[in-house]
Amino acid sequence: MKISFERWSSQLCVVPSIGMTIDASRMGEIPALEWTPAFDAMAALEAGAIANPDENRQVGHYWLRAPELAPTPEQREAIEGALRQVKAFATHVHSGRIAAPAGGKFTDVLVVGIGGSALGPQLAARALGTACDDKMVLHFLDNTDPDGFDVVLDRLRARLPYTLVLVISKSGGTKETRNGMLEVKRAMEDSHVPFAAHAVAITGEGSALDKLAVSEQWLARFPMWDWVGGRTSELSAVGLLPAALQGIDIDAFLDGARDADVATRVRDPLKNPAARLAACWHAAGRGRGEKDMVVLPYKDRLELFSRYLQQLVMESLGKEHDLAGKQVHQGLAVYGNKGSTDQHAYVQQLRDGVQNFFVTFIEVLRDRHKPPFEVEPGVTAGDYLFGFLEGTRRALFEAGRPSLTITLDDVSPRTLGALIAVFERAVGLYASLVGINAYHQPGVEAGKKAAGDVLALQAKVVEHLAMHAGMHDVDSIARGAGSDDRELVFKICDHLAANGRLQRELQSSGEPWRARFSK
Ligand code: PA5
Repeated sequence: MKISFERWSSQLCVVPSIGMTIDASRMGEIPALEWTPAFDAMAALEAGAIANPDENRQVGHYWLRAPELAPTPEQREAIEGALRQVKAFATHVHSGRIAAPAGGKFTDVLVVGIGGSALGPQLAARALGTACDDKMVLHFLDNTDPDGFDVVLDRLRARLPYTLVLVISKSGGTKETRNGMLEVKRAMEDSHVPFAAHAVAITGEGSALDKLAVSEQWLARFPMWDWVGGRTSELSAVGLLPAALQGIDIDAFLDGARDADVATRVRDPLKNPAARLAACWHAAGRGRGEKDMVVLPYKDRLELFSRYLQQLVMESLGKEHDLAGKQVHQGLAVYGNKGSTDQHAYVQQLRDGVQNFFVTFIEVLRDRHKPPFEVEPGVTAGDYLFGFLEGTRRALFEAGRPSLTITLDDVSPRTLGALIAVFERAVGLYASLVGINAYHQPGVEAGKKAAGDVLALQAKVVEHLAMHAGMHDVDSIARGAGSDDRELVFKICDHLAANGRLQRELQSSGEPWRARFSK
């Protein structure tokens, strides 16, 4: 199946102001949609409407790159003040005016955060970092995995005296982040490094983290506001401070996002790149998320983009109810990594297997910053990368598998800012088209509560065993802990025993669930 040159060129959405083209020629038929309500809702959002009724808050990430659009002078000053603070802090750290207590400049930055407080900074660090030119080296703790903490902290051990610790949490109460912070603090204390003099908080005013930073006199505090959502916070201090410390041009990052916002306010859905994306998603999955989106950037620097999008898209669109309260189970599944690497992995299935997806290819025109090198006469490695992308996209189309292609001039602070902003707006527009709230995350909150319930039961199990000497089976421990969830009681005991915190005695049957436990 071939596409004529005329058909191909008629399906391009070209946006020179942000160095981006969206090619929807291989998506099949894209039905016309009623855009006015979606554009109106977006305009109201930018004007400061309460767009998140559950949480009674505004959604103001667009103001971060255009503070003059913020509805109040206080919000405008807060954004501009935070930006000034980020720049001044990074400049002073780089110059050594803010120095490590051990003497000398800080060399490393350890970011502790999760979800929206980690994915954007990780994406920007990977996409824009350069081994030789970065001003500081970034590291991340984005989980509550003790072994994961050990791997990063062991690697950093000798440089802990020169490591700045950014603890990022909008709510200031996220347990994974609290745990990471406590582990870093302990590692620093073990190395006689004064944690507070290395620690920086980025959080909401008055949060538990904010209060801790004040009471322990941390090196600095940066604001987060309730009107910026976690997954759209990359252009706030959450993303700008780590980027500025790394040496990334944050003005260009903000400019790219600001110019993309201008381009995505256009009310013509064929000329607006965010509307074009939202229309493709709607067409592919019939407005019900029936097809997964496979994100395939042919560029190593963008390999974290699909992880970043997983949160932005799936946490925003994966909702049980629509705005009218009807059960709809909406969503749009996202996965991916990078090409051509994935051609040696799952692209086989995309080409020949189950047809439950559409692909978003990302092509980057500029191959590298250094001069070209020919791996064969007249051919560079970048020519191969281009050839693999074009070949795969054509092969998929010929096999009846839809794809769209986003072409970027290069990977730079400007284009990354634009890419993020275009997808933020696409998510908001798509949510309006399918009638859901993109700006809350009840499932995330439920997950946080569920972990609390498990740990509360663990405390009762341990208390019961501490008060009743000897070995006990799961039935009696569950009764003693006041729970009828024997499976969970077993799993708690098994985990504690595997870590030497309970004794375990297996029975002759060898069936693990019949084991007996003691303190
Ligand atoms: O997008 C969101 O709101 C969440 O995924 C948060 O980013 C995540 O739970 C981390 O929350 P916090 O920044 O409050 O620690």
